[in-house]
Amino acid sequence: MNNSELLSNDTAPSPNGFIQHGEEGFAGMRKAGRLAAECLDMLVPLAKPGISSAALDRAAFEFVMDHGAKPACLGYRGYRHTTCISINHVICHGIPSDKPLKEGDIANIDVTLIVDGWHGDTSRMFYFGEPSVLAKRLTDTTFEAMWKAIEIVKPGATLRDIGEAIQTHAEAAGFSVVRDFCGHGVGQVFHCPPNVVHYASYKDRFGSHQTPATPLVEGMFFTIEPMINTGKPDAKVKRDGWTAVTRDRSLSAQFEHCIGVTKDGFEVFTKSPAGFDRPPFKG
Ligand code: MF3
Ligand code: CO
Ligand code: CO
Repeated sequence: MNNSELLSNDTAPSPNGFIQHGEEGFAGMRKAGRLAAECLDMLVPLAKPGISSAALDRAAFEFVMDHGAKPACLGYRGYRHTTCISINHVICHGIPSDKPLKEGDIANIDVTLIVDGWHGDTSRMFYFGEPSVLAKRLTDTTFEAMWKAIEIVKPGATLRDIGEAIQTHAEAAGFSVVRDFCGHGVGQVFHCPPNVVHYASYKDRFGSHQTPATPLVEGMFFTIEPMINTGKPDAKVKRDGWTAVTRDRSLSAQFEHCIGVTKDGFEVFTKSPAGFDRPPFKG
């Protein structure tokens, strides 16, 4: 069976074992991805110093309900919120709380919603007031690293190429790539193969880790969601079982898009319709 035969149907496993989606899948992800991005757009005017992450989470929940979608995180492995809001040294999976955001904070807001069974998963950074020069440089570098990786996506490019693009850009800026969390296949399931790691290689006390040069194929859907730290890459999960923080308490930033591999490139399903792709958000 060749790929065009597979794609003329709906979904089928690729030669790598990953699901290859057809037009129906692309249409489903376009809708879910757009609504997820619109949910983050809706939060932009609310994201000011003084608001709590719990209030932002409630606004996201209302948005998801009002649009007849489902919040994928609510109830996922016991998680109890619509969003993850990861402030300053929190890498990911920050739990919304009543503590107000303060002037100079940076936060990643990550939302996943389900529309007609398809999962739109996206996150971006928000500035609360005016962050430090370092925080802004970290945010910019993380955004650029994600886009450098997205731009190499096409059939035949590899998962290693994605990791390499991100690692090279982050490390050239003097920052480090988080190893303990990665992107993932996405579609009618929230998290599925492949793991999309954001590095090509690294060494630690266990030895040297190499990302396999697994080729991308048309119709694959996955996220690219690099987490970049100003300090060391090491993460630890707090006793709440979710909140991942930098061990050295350095700042961490993240952006996330859902991507589909097309015949000769990529489609990004989660771009901001309002143009609020990166902070500072104007307008
Ligand atoms: N949205 C996250 C991701 O990018 C997953 C969050 S799982 C949750 O994969 F349960 F913490 F919400
Ligand atoms: Co994700
Ligand atoms: Co996400």
